[in-house]
Amino acid sequence: MTTEACLYEGKAKRIYETSDKNVYRVAYKDDATAFNGEKKDVLEGKGRLNNEISSLIFSKLHEAGVPNHFVERLSETEQLVKKVDIIPIEVVVRNVAAGSLVKRLGLKRGERFQDPIIEFYYKDDELGDPLINTDHIAYLKIATEEELLTIREIATRVNRVLTFLFKEADLILVDFKLEFGRDEANDVLLADEVSPDTCRLWDEQTGESLDKDLFRFQLGDLNKGYETILTRLGGNQS
Ligand code: TMP
Ligand code: ASP
Repeated sequence: MTTEACLYEGKAKRIYETSDKNVYRVAYKDDATAFNGEKKDVLEGKGRLNNEISSLIFSKLHEAGVPNHFVERLSETEQLVKKVDIIPIEVVVRNVAAGSLVKRLGLKRGERFQDPIIEFYYKDDELGDPLINTDHIAYLKIATEEELLTIREIATRVNRVLTFLFKEADLILVDFKLEFGRDEANDVLLADEVSPDTCRLWDEQTGESLDKDLFRFQLGDLNKGYETILTRLGGNQS
């Protein structure tokens, strides 16, 4: 399988073709980046942790009936996924005030929202992934009105399932980013990854960050935080 062409290399993953034209192989890298690639490092073992956590979460989402691209975990660092065309929107769901929203709206970090706040960002590195609204999405023809409704509905369901899953693991799901794609039948599926690279997760008792904020803001050992998350979710240990 390793001889098949690499179709795309992103900051944290490589995507390869497989012998099945509708299936891709995703290989998680050890690279860590933040602030649109301005901060970079290689953290040995990070690829494995994200693959294990992401595989586990996608499986749980399948069990809960949330349509997603995951097919199966292939190895410690690889998974098979359904081929989709990624819709260039980053969908952020927030339960607790943190990160860029604290700055943008002058909120107090840690403030809990009664209802989740959903935001859309235009996935475009050159523009720095700007915050956009539904009018921008319609004008740029990024997604149809119907697709956006589906995206909001899936994002809300993911939030419900994951908030519960993480709560069982004594973790608070503060916020997370999702990406969606269109499959062969043009149906919208959850895609990309769901991992501590793309979620904020705080320890319920201590409030400490166990996610990529450890790397972004030099708060501590990233792999240690990710290992804690994997262990608490009952995933494959090293
Ligand atoms: P933010 O508070 O920096 O806007 O981030 C919100 C959530 O989205 C947080 O869980 C981290 C995640 N995220 C990504 O996965 N990729 C990104 O490029 C950014 C900016 C945030
Ligand atoms: N994912 C983005 C980057 O790699 C930003 C971030 O997650 O903070 O630069």
